Amino acid sequence: MNCERHDWKRAIREIHGSDACRIDGATLRLVCVLLARELDLVDYEVLDHGARVAHIAVQLGRATRRLDDAQLHGLHLAGLYHDLGKLKLPKATVNKPGPLDIDEWKVIRRHPEIGQAMVGQIPALVDAHSVAEAVRHHHEAWDGRGYPAGLVGHGIPLRARILAVADTWDALRTRRAYKEPHASEHAIEVMQNEAGRRLDPDLVDLLLSAI
Ligand SMILES: [Fe+2]
Ligand SMILES: [Fe+2]
Repeated sequence: MNCERHDWKRAIREIHGSDACRIDGATLRLVCVLLARELDLVDYEVLDHGARVAHIAVQLGRATRRLDDAQLHGLHLAGLYHDLGKLKLPKATVNKPGPLDIDEWKVIRRHPEIGQAMVGQIPALVDAHSVAEAVRHHHEAWDGRGYPAGLVGHGIPLRARILAVADTWDALRTRRAYKEPHASEHAIEVMQNEAGRRLDPDLVDLLLSAI
């Protein structure tokens, strides 16, 4: 790909400026991935992680029998973009191969709200408001100790609770810059531990009964 940076920016402005344009989630993700790689904004893993979380979240969402097809579609988009806010954070912090200090955590904890703003500003995105809401709240905790709003239990939007479970499972089971993947048995143990703390216990049960 030999595009100059300003060409990419102009292309995206034209896409966003077109009322007639409607982009499905997969196409938009492709644009995001190409942009991120071209501009060297972030480790590719952040975006690949979104695809895996989206897949797990939709399976889990379907298993709840509480979401219709349109809501599942929104959940898929929210899964793809849940960590999009990290694109705007310092790459060295996002990809740091070791524990984060307090200041670095403060930076990282901004990504749900940044992501919400980014997703909410995409007029071509179907169901942008509820997708953005799920992105905003994907780090809320069942016991109220999450962020950014400190919502509790069923006060957290269902799709955000689903994302949290899918996100945690994927983080446990895949390699990160700072850790190797956990074995399945250990990952299950961690999920059971987090049920009722960070994660919705019913959703954890649903996930674990399906694997
Ligand atoms: Fe996140
Ligand atoms: Fe994530």
